[in-house]
Amino acid sequence: MSSSLPPSPARSRRSGALTGRARVPGDKSISHRSLILGLLSVGETRIEGLLEGEDVLATGRACAALGATVERLAAGRWRVSGVGVGALKSPAETLDFGNAGTGSRLMMGVVGGHPIEATFDGDASLRSRPMRRILDPLEKMGALVVSAAEGGRVPLTLRGPNRTIPITYETPAPSAQIKSAVLLAGLNAPGVTTVIEREATRDHTERMLKAFGAEVTVEPHGAHGRAIRLVGEPELRATQISVPADPSSAAFALVAALVTPGSEIVIEGVMTNPLRTGLMTTLIEMGADVTLSDVHEVGGEEVADIVVRASRLAGVDVPPERAPTMIDEYPILAVAAAFAEGETRMRGLHELRVKESDRLAAVHAGLLACGVEARIEGDDLIVTGKGGVPGGGEPVATHLDHRIAMSFLVMGLASERPVAIDDAAMIATSFPDFVPLMRGLGAAIDVEGQVELHGASS
Ligand code: S3P
Repeated sequence: MSSSLPPSPARSRRSGALTGRARVPGDKSISHRSLILGLLSVGETRIEGLLEGEDVLATGRACAALGATVERLAAGRWRVSGVGVGALKSPAETLDFGNAGTGSRLMMGVVGGHPIEATFDGDASLRSRPMRRILDPLEKMGALVVSAAEGGRVPLTLRGPNRTIPITYETPAPSAQIKSAVLLAGLNAPGVTTVIEREATRDHTERMLKAFGAEVTVEPHGAHGRAIRLVGEPELRATQISVPADPSSAAFALVAALVTPGSEIVIEGVMTNPLRTGLMTTLIEMGADVTLSDVHEVGGEEVADIVVRASRLAGVDVPPERAPTMIDEYPILAVAAAFAEGETRMRGLHELRVKESDRLAAVHAGLLACGVEARIEGDDLIVTGKGGVPGGGEPVATHLDHRIAMSFLVMGLASERPVAIDDAAMIATSFPDFVPLMRGLGAAIDVEGQVELHGASS
């Protein structure tokens, strides 16, 4: 099993106004896909602004194990010399994905579509996450699950077929990871692979496949869904990628500035792909003073500077159909809701139960530990905001979940008493510089036994 980082307790305290400009790291979803599509292309893919978090670094190592040459040229600047669709080799060692659900699931799609065999493993969080949702369509495409832990979890060994079968697959859950795994496997199938999703999810795989030269069409399907068709066996062309800043990481600084009185900050160059901006929509409905400036395009994605001023927030009803556009942002939205006046009801959160932790339970428990009134009804989380948060309770249990850790550190910046969390180490999976970046804006965050939280080393 993957060696976990040693736990590192942390605490945040009531802070003065947050001010200044910040640039959060590159988007995690695009970073994983950049490396993987680099592996599947012939030639040199150059990446600028790659997120150098533990999750993405694990994907980089996996790409190297499958035959690519993956090199770090400078901070955030990487070169992948790929081998092309159909030319991968079986890795000699287990692919250890640590905490990374996206990296492992997308790579299962790659392996499951190629005549190679690989073993996947990860930390205690990854070992608890469902993989059947990925293995089911891959088996339909001809892959064989050689062995797996109970319920089809990792550690598991997957062998792709000699001839991959192109399928039409309707995803059973609104998941960009399932969609992407099927499309990546479909790259090595003769014919058209189709994925139908009832609710549109982040579309980075489709957009990037097109940028690498694959033939992909996307059509509306039903009220909220899409049908994505990929023509198999393309010769992907290596390309240059500029990774925009991650809206899911920007979310923490954004909410921190909203709830910390007197704050005004600018978060630079954040991707505003409409399938990722549900949090901003919701916060604006709550009364947040959030505006976009310098809107322009980077690498086929719209980006903007986000200007945020501390705001009085009011509770709102968040519809379930918005969930795919803000699926990773509910923990930090719950923090905003705790500082708002009135009830915020977040509907249809069943997918939160299978994230890095059971996020529905973890957020609820954390809110209660901080003295916030909250309850779960079915798949809904209801937070009763009182305009302020007591804080000061037992350390919040983060369950190896980076977003739980960052969310509750944000809560402590404006609560009456400090908020402690049991472990900040996992923050390095997605946002290695979270603590220094937040401190630079004026946030009072202390990490025990660690001067800094740098995840990237190579
Ligand atoms: C991701 C998809 C989402 C999201 C994850 C990143 C991706 O997961 O939660 O952080 O890059 O495809 P699901 O596909 O499980 O919804």
